[in-house]
Formats: sequence, structure tokens, C-alpha cells
Amino acid sequence: MAWRISVAGKGGVGKTTISGLLGRLWGRQGRPAILVDCDPSTNLASALGIEAEVRQERVPLACDHDLVEDKVGVRPGESYGQMFRLNPEVEDILEKYGMEGADGTTLLTLGTISTGGSGCFCPESALLKALMRYLVFKRDEIVIMDMAAGVEHLGRGTAEKVDMMLIVVEPGARSVDTAIQVKGLGKDLGINRFSAIFNKVPDGTDLSVLEGKLEAEGITVVGHLPFDSALIEADMADVSVMDYAPGSKVERAMEEMLPSIEGIISEAA
Ligand SMILES: Nc1ncnc2c1ncn2[C@@H]1O[C@H](COP(=O)(O)OP(=O)(O)OP(=O)(O)O)[C@@H](O)[C@H]1O
Ligand SMILES: [Mg+2]
Repeated sequence: MAWRISVAGKGGVGKTTISGLLGRLWGRQGRPAILVDCDPSTNLASALGIEAEVRQERVPLACDHDLVEDKVGVRPGESYGQMFRLNPEVEDILEKYGMEGADGTTLLTLGTISTGGSGCFCPESALLKALMRYLVFKRDEIVIMDMAAGVEHLGRGTAEKVDMMLIVVEPGARSVDTAIQVKGLGKDLGINRFSAIFNKVPDGTDLSVLEGKLEAEGITVVGHLPFDSALIEADMADVSVMDYAPGSKVERAMEEMLPSIEGIISEAA
């Protein structure tokens, strides 16, 4: 039951929207989720129903230099010639820095590392990698990672424990090509199960050709989410669609898709 899901896909396809819906819907079923925001510029906090004032006062973990220094032993920006702890104690971070979201969700905002890349060897990266290891290996909750552009916070051993990379795709050939590239990145890292959700699908769209292309690449299509203007209105009001328009089209479609996602993950186990 301690599923680990990494949500990926190109910019603006709906990764944050889908991460938020998944976390909250599972939470309502009594399966609490930890959501990991790998991109501080996203609105995952808002998707989880966290108030703007609460959101704004939190600093992403990688930017909290006191925390990084306390845990790793070196302040970001200081000479890497210094020794630092590669296995810092991170058990208390969730409790101290996790934000409580709606429906039993907890949000951790990691922040990005500008000098990043999978080979980054800096104190912030050491801390985030240790934290991801802890979340993936030790926690009983579902862990949902909103991956934004990169996957740099996942070390190889951690990535191998990810049950599924869920790639969000818009109905279009280029988006499908990007999904195939994203799968390649995930595979290189050590993730070995890939699924796709089509998002923002207009009514009546025939996706069979695109689905065939994904399936041929070993990416299982779990379903479609409709284009839903409730999301745009909710976004303008800066609140979660689940609070703005309870029972919206997109929420119901996501809810119907949960058993398929669960089925694929259980098969893997
Ligand atoms: N099914 C949908 N129908 C209509 N609008 C949608 C749908 N899904 C997402 N959107 C809208 O598309 C925009 C991008 O969504 P979202 O932020 O979830 O994407 P993202 O992949 O996380 O983007 P980024 O790469 O910038 O992090 C948002 O304004 C969101 O409300
Ligand atoms: Mg996002």
C-alpha cells in the first residue's frame, strides 16, 4: 500500500493538477499521501487546499541554508572541499517542514538546485537525496512526486523503488514524443514501470493512434481526463478545483481511474 509514484511530463501538461487530485482522492479513501514538490514555482500547495498565507511563509528545503548546514555539515555555497555528511538524519524533516494539506495530505517543497543535474554534488543535493531515500524506503504513506522538469533528486537506488512513473500527456503527437523521451530519462535512472494519462482531452477525441504509439513503447495508458473549464476558474481563484467545484468532471474522471492505477501498481509488486 505504500505506493511510490513519480508524476512527469512536459511543461504545463497537468502534472501538478494530477498529483493534487491523486493525493486528495486517495486521502479521502483513508490512504494518506505525502506529496513532494520538486519545483517551487508550481502550485501544488494550492492544489492541496493550503492557504496562500501559509504557502508563502514556507521556504523550499534546498533554500533553507541553516537547515542544510545543520543536517549536512556544510553551508550551501561553501567549498565542497569540506567533508559533508552523505547520510544526514532526516527523520524529523517531514514533521517540522511538512505542510498539512486537505484530505490527509502532507506537502514537502524541495526546491530546485540551480547547478543541478543528476551528478550534482553539493550539500543541498545530499540533503534532498537523503530525504527522498527516507520517504521512499521508510514511510508507510503513499508518496507522490511532482517531478517538474528534472528527476535529479532521485538517486538510482531510490528510483528503483518507484512503483510507477506516471507520464502526463496532452492529446498530440509532440506531447507523445516528449512522453517517450521522459520515459527514457526515467529508465536511465532506474525506474522500470511507465504509465500515461492523457489530460485536457476534448470530448469525442479519438486517441487510438497515440495510445498505440505509447503502448508500443511500453507505456501503459491508464486513461483520459477531460478538458475541464472548472480547473481554469479554480486556477484564477487560486484554489484547488476540489474545493472550488466539488465533484467536477476532472475530479470524477480521476476517481474512476484510481482502480486502474492501483491495478498496475499491484501487478508490479
Ligand atoms: N484537464 C484539464 N482541463 C483544463 N485545464 C487543465 C486541465 N489540467 C490542467 N489544466 C490547467 O493547465 C495548467 C497547467 O496545469 P499544471 O500546473 O497542473 O501543469 P504542470 O504540468 O504541473 O505544469 P508545470 O510544468 O508548469 O509544472 C493549469 O492552469 C491547469 O489548471
Ligand atoms: Mg507543475
